[in-house]
Amino acid sequence: MTNAVYAKVQNCYQQVRNMTDFVPQVAVVLGSGLGAFADEIDIVTTISYHDIDGFPVSTVSGHAGRFVFGYVDGVPVVLMQGRVHYYEGYPMTDVVLPIRLMLMLGAKKLLLTNAAGGVNTGFQAGDFMMITDHISTFIPSPLISANIDELGPRFPDMSEVYTKSLREAVRRAASSCGVQLQQGVYLQLTGPCYETPTEIRMCRMLGADAVGMSTVCEAIAARHAGAKVAAISCITNMAAGVTAAPLSHEEVKETADRVSVQFKALLRAAIKEIGAVED
Ligand code: HPA
Repeated sequence: MTNAVYAKVQNCYQQVRNMTDFVPQVAVVLGSGLGAFADEIDIVTTISYHDIDGFPVSTVSGHAGRFVFGYVDGVPVVLMQGRVHYYEGYPMTDVVLPIRLMLMLGAKKLLLTNAAGGVNTGFQAGDFMMITDHISTFIPSPLISANIDELGPRFPDMSEVYTKSLREAVRRAASSCGVQLQQGVYLQLTGPCYETPTEIRMCRMLGADAVGMSTVCEAIAARHAGAKVAAISCITNMAAGVTAAPLSHEEVKETADRVSVQFKALLRAAIKEIGAVED
């Protein structure tokens, strides 16, 4: 019997393939307020998520909804300008469908970005954090369903989700463009509420440095399928209770805007370095 989850990805893949024969080397997901990077690459073609029948479409402001195919300093990339989140009501298998699709298009390396709350009190709003590891315990696994044997094993190893060679590439990229890079553990919660101060204390006790509502499920799906993964958080705000300030999506977007020049430089350099790492 065909696996329904896999059949859906394949159906979306076929539609994209009918629209472009572009083969990306690196897949990139642009997080909340970080989508402007897509306007700066050498664009070959774009595909709106709305034009792919069955594809999950984001409802969040600050998230455009399209694939952008093109080149960053000669590296063939596919960018997701906007992603869907679990809190929008999609099942996890839909949330990670775009990741699986980009890997099927040919990308063997994935660079994830997001806006995140700073849990580590040594961080400041506007910092960038390279994700070294994650905590997925509070979200359903995107691999819950019949296993897609064509993509990966039933019980995949997660001892190195964020590939060492790509982490080194991101570090080199940060030093080459003079961006200070924090590093740490990202914990994904479902959202859409921001956390309470007590929940943030819990996250800190568990070893988290940053918290957010995306990325981990995508990293798991990519590792399951054997891709190399790197991820960068933009710390758009300190998490609840770290300062007395209430949290808002406006603040998240404002900070992302404020650091967007630096972020775009970091991303460009990171893609170039990651492109040079063997598949
Ligand atoms: N919590 C959860 N998700 C987030 C935050 C936060 O403080 N900031 C940006 N995304």
